[in-house]
Amino acid sequence: MSTEGRIRRLAEEDRPPVEFALDGRDCRALLGDTVLTAVLSNAKTLRHSEFGPEGRAGFCLMGACQDCWMWQESGPRIRACSTPIAEGMRLMSMPPREWP
Ligand code: FES
Repeated sequence: MSTEGRIRRLAEEDRPPVEFALDGRDCRALLGDTVLTAVLSNAKTLRHSEFGPEGRAGFCLMGACQDCWMWQESGPRIRACSTPIAEGMRLMSMPPREWP
């Protein structure tokens, strides 16, 4: 497991691994992680703020604040805190160029 994430896993390390990509970089999570847990285990932030230079890492962690939007290479935007990570997911911290 990467040591460069914002969060560090302290328990349940025996769940099956899940491979995913974040901004083209190969990453690893565990089955049952949310996208937020998976990404912050591998990176300091989920995405960049649209209002300034700060990175964002979620706020409410229960699907209410919309601070954890991320994008999939296939197009759909997701809430990282309420979306389970899935094998082969290709996530982006920035919206695709053609995003409205
Ligand atoms: S952290 Fe608030 S909606 Fe995901």
